[in-house]
Amino acid sequence: MPQDDHVRLISHPLVQHKLTIARDAKTPPHEFRRLLTELALLMAFELTREHETEEIEVQTPLGISKGHLLATEITLVPILRAGLGMADGILRLVPQARVGHLGIYRDENTLEPVVYYNKLPPDIGRTEVIVIDPMLATGGSGVAAVDAVKKAGAKCIKLLCLVAAPDGIARLYKSHPDVLVYTAAVDSHLDERGFIVPGLGDAGDRIFGTE
Ligand code: PRP
Repeated sequence: MPQDDHVRLISHPLVQHKLTIARDAKTPPHEFRRLLTELALLMAFELTREHETEEIEVQTPLGISKGHLLATEITLVPILRAGLGMADGILRLVPQARVGHLGIYRDENTLEPVVYYNKLPPDIGRTEVIVIDPMLATGGSGVAAVDAVKKAGAKCIKLLCLVAAPDGIARLYKSHPDVLVYTAAVDSHLDERGFIVPGLGDAGDRIFGTE
């Protein structure tokens, strides 16, 4: 499939270990939240692996050392609500990142995304934008989020999710073939309610204990 080249599967053993515990229906919300934070941090480590750096010199207590600093500014854009569960983990790695928020929920009947909040930092066009959402199901929310950040000027965009369905990957690729998807798993299919199977349930409900 052409979209396969646009998916980066993060197979690090720690990521797979934590994802497996997160999938378990017996894992309670407080532990699910902690796992999601840790997963986001580990996945962001992989996502930033090829980021450009610039060489600088620093004065150490004993001399001058060459070093490298990140050359790219990063803007995180969590999709509310569930994306919030991943933002803190990434901010621990890149505390200098700016954060934009997109409120999007799926209409339960049509499964189409409804955008209810949009607050993005100015000048995101000169930064790399990482759209965050644990679930890429039909892909409607992901496409709407990328539409919104592109409208705000973003040019370099990645989407970080935890579990993706083939339908969501295909839909995102069709609308935004320039956007790479980073995920810890590509699951089997969607059920009739648009839930990822086997997935991990409704991530927002599991994070916030609203089921
Ligand atoms: C879930 C999930 C994604 C979206 C994925 O959000 O967190 O945002 O659905 O589905 P899609 O790929 O088919 O668009 P939900 O609508 O449950 O909102 P919530 O995060 O506020 O619970």
